Amino acid sequence: MPAKSHSRRPMMVANWKMHKTPAESAAFIARLRELAPGNGGDCVVVVAPAFPCLAAAVEAARGFACAIAGQDLHWAPEGAFTGEVSAAMLAAAGCTHVIVGHSERRQFFGETDETVHKKVRAALAASLTPIVCVGETEAQRNDNEIELILRYQFERAFWGMEAEIFSRCVLAYEPVWAIGTGNTATPEVAEGAHRFLRRCARDIFGPEAAQALTILYGGSIKPSNMRALLDQPDVDGGLVGTASLEPDSFAALIKAANAQ
Ligand code: PGA
Repeated sequence: MPAKSHSRRPMMVANWKMHKTPAESAAFIARLRELAPGNGGDCVVVVAPAFPCLAAAVEAARGFACAIAGQDLHWAPEGAFTGEVSAAMLAAAGCTHVIVGHSERRQFFGETDETVHKKVRAALAASLTPIVCVGETEAQRNDNEIELILRYQFERAFWGMEAEIFSRCVLAYEPVWAIGTGNTATPEVAEGAHRFLRRCARDIFGPEAAQALTILYGGSIKPSNMRALLDQPDVDGGLVGTASLEPDSFAALIKAANAQ
């Protein structure tokens, strides 16, 4: 097992997608508080409920080291954009983080590298931490385009940014073929992509920013496979869908991250 030679804090993010009501969101966080009191260690714990559940989640997380995130945002500060939510609205609701560019947004809702970039800027302007998702599809993987795609998505997302501003972002490597499929990347495959993304960060923002960058893995994480992923030197935590819907399994993932 390669030792971790850096001081990045582990991070575990629950992405609930279109699951849970406000009452269910609050009940989950109350249970998590019992299972992982004070959250048990160094791990940064983040929960991303659906928009109508944010208030209940923020209230339930009061006094508990559990940050609340939006699952998406619009880049404009306000305007005639029916159905959309701004960064300032998320911040005012008590969010500290926001997921940007999830592959489900890219695949099903027309998210592009350009809108990802605008959303990252908007999140940062409202002092939210953007959790920026990148990752190749199965076809791109089969065509040996992984590095091409990852570098392109990375460069577009953080285009023209100062290193100091970039250092407020979190990156998530989420290979599309691994999301919700049960087909988790092997620790070696995940590490290869994370190492490459850290190299992209170094090329643009320098070694310090690259070393400090938190890179999460996402795609069919389970308590049984998280440990081996976290043992990789460039894997700093997880962005978790299915296994984050039950407090017991999410608490087990937090425990794995704290055991680093
Ligand atoms: P999954 O989803 O854990 O269900 O694969 C991960 C994600 O979409 O962030």
